[in-house]
Amino acid sequence: MNQRLELLAAYPFERLARLKAGITPPATLPHIAMSIGEPKHAPPDFVIDALRRELGKLDSYPVTAGLPEMRHACAAWLERRFDVHVNPEGMVLPVNGTREALFSFVQAVVSTKLADHKPVVAMPNPFYQIYEGAALLAGAEPVFLNTTAGNRFQPDLDAVPADVWKRCEILFLCSPGNPTGSVLSLDFLRHALRLADRHDFVIASDECYAELYRDELSPPPSLLQAAAANGHDAFQRCMVFHSLSKRSSVPGLRSGFVAGDPALIKPYLLYRTYHGCAMPVPTQLASIAAWNDDAHAAANRVLYREKYARVLPILQPVLDVVEPDGAFYLWPDIQRDDEAFTRDLYAAQNLTILPGSYLARTSRDGTNPGRHRVRISLVAPVEECVTAAQRIRTFLAK
Ligand SMILES: Cc1ncc(COP(=O)(O)O)c(C=O)c1O
Repeated sequence: MNQRLELLAAYPFERLARLKAGITPPATLPHIAMSIGEPKHAPPDFVIDALRRELGKLDSYPVTAGLPEMRHACAAWLERRFDVHVNPEGMVLPVNGTREALFSFVQAVVSTKLADHKPVVAMPNPFYQIYEGAALLAGAEPVFLNTTAGNRFQPDLDAVPADVWKRCEILFLCSPGNPTGSVLSLDFLRHALRLADRHDFVIASDECYAELYRDELSPPPSLLQAAAANGHDAFQRCMVFHSLSKRSSVPGLRSGFVAGDPALIKPYLLYRTYHGCAMPVPTQLASIAAWNDDAHAAANRVLYREKYARVLPILQPVLDVVEPDGAFYLWPDIQRDDEAFTRDLYAAQNLTILPGSYLARTSRDGTNPGRHRVRISLVAPVEECVTAAQRIRTFLAK
């Protein structure tokens, strides 16, 4: 077996299942799940209809590069959303959700040459656990950049030691962030890119929550915009990851795309051809319909905003919690042990959230930035979120 598999940490939901084992919550209260970031809004009818209509096209093998129409729809969306020109021939690839792409991209990029030093993959901390697993399986050292209230939940790139940048091959960024909801500004992204140029690394920008944001007048920027602003017309050193899972509430469709530097896309396409992860044609055709429509994504944002507007007034008197700039999580500072809080809340209120420390690692300075925080996913329908907030308030009042 691949010995590196032994390096992988248990997934947060495995740890959560262990934490809840043996507890019997009150049967009178229906269970509410706020632990997993799985959108629960109804998928758009026109996407489902397109999928149904195209099912007959399961009779042929899809190609890894995807249909030209799929790449064009992705590039057209990038242009509408971020005002960047992306060539659909050579700068875009469909992926089966960003999860597999975030993983496989690292396998394709991290160098395998035996050098006198170990490659580094740097990432925010807390983070989406795939970044860490991908780095470990590629033989790289994950380096965690803490995101805390003190740095407004943005990694402090200037604090990274020069010897780490020297070994760094990939920097992961996530904006809006999971779990913090923090949005990285264009200035931040431009600065990150200047560091990438100076130290010769690639930026993998996970933008899968880019369509879920608070302020309709200031949507989160993309790394691609920063590249264009820095004069990188071919998006040198940049790869962005986009998904329909959150934007269109279709996590089961497994549809996303990557876009960026053609010098990265080309070898990554070769890798994917061997990996054998082409997107089925009916999925591509349904995805084209979704990427071509912006109205349903705007309607989706309205639903999330309504949840914040209803839930925060219930929670804020008892909890240090703010509305995030993007994504759909609350990340309150609970000022006590996050595992005990999660377990006791489940036992008392039949409500499942996620301990913050499961989403983060103890970093070089000995701190775990998820400690004393919990992640609450506002994915359930609005009334269920309101009920959940009331239960948390009751729990805290006791
Ligand atoms: C930060 C982040 N990136 C990527 C993903 C993967 O999403 P998908 O594979 O559905 O595109 C998730 C899913 O929760 C996520 O939270």
